[in-house]
Amino acid sequence: MSHRILLLGAPGAGKGTQSAKLADEYGVEHVTTGDALRANKEMETEYGTPKSFMDAGELVPDPVVNEIVEAALSDADGFVLDGYPRNLDQAEYLSEITDLDAVILLDVDEEVLVDRLTGRRVCDDCGANYHVDFHPPEEPGVCDDCGGELIQREDDTEETARERLEVFYDNTEPVVDHFRDEGVLVEVDGEATPDEVFDRIRDVVEN
Ligand code: AP5
Ligand code: MG
Ligand code: ZN
Repeated sequence: MSHRILLLGAPGAGKGTQSAKLADEYGVEHVTTGDALRANKEMETEYGTPKSFMDAGELVPDPVVNEIVEAALSDADGFVLDGYPRNLDQAEYLSEITDLDAVILLDVDEEVLVDRLTGRRVCDDCGANYHVDFHPPEEPGVCDDCGGELIQREDDTEETARERLEVFYDNTEPVVDHFRDEGVLVEVDGEATPDEVFDRIRDVVEN
């Protein structure tokens, strides 16, 4: 059976970490607007480059992200969708292009989110996620998986992290409420080890 999973959560909630595990476990596509935009940060659009929005912690305009998601989903059999929809217009667009089998919210306290974001390191080559305290690599600055260099995302400064959280509470909380009102939202406590959180998500997907 193919799975169409939507993973919602604030910046730092663990969407990327858990999506990678889900993609592995179920052989589905990891569709993430954040990674897609980072790979095309300098792309000229009629609104400017994605970089100009992302480095400020603001949302990239809907037409740009809608197009990315539509293309990615039309190629995917099953998927885990991470980082989209982030406002009600995107949620409306998504409902027109696909059905979902599971909608899961990763619930994490705000101060924990800030610590996770400011300590995050990502592999410049393969994109694997680390954290200086919570998930350190075996050798500092070096990716366990591919030996690539670990870097800090430009939007992971404390100031920009807090701005991204504001943007989440203003724009994306209404999306969470929308799925809750529809009765399809399952909330998962995201404050445990990544493996424990994954077990909780797997329970939801399989039951
Ligand atoms: P995006 O890349 O999606 O960033 P985000 O939503 O802010 O989420 P993050 O990637 O920061 O967090 P995450 O939940 O994936 O957490 P992670 O697993 O890495 O978007 C970036 C920007 O792109 C946006 O600001 C916007 O400008 C633009 N954009 C993207 N999508 C858009 C859209 N739809 N519309 C408009 N604009 C869009 O974990 C975080 C850290 O915590 C890591 O270090 C990890 O190792 C650690 N960690 C994870 N799980 C645990 C755990 N259980 N315990 C301890 N530590 C943990
Ligand atoms: Mg992410
Ligand atoms: Zn790597």
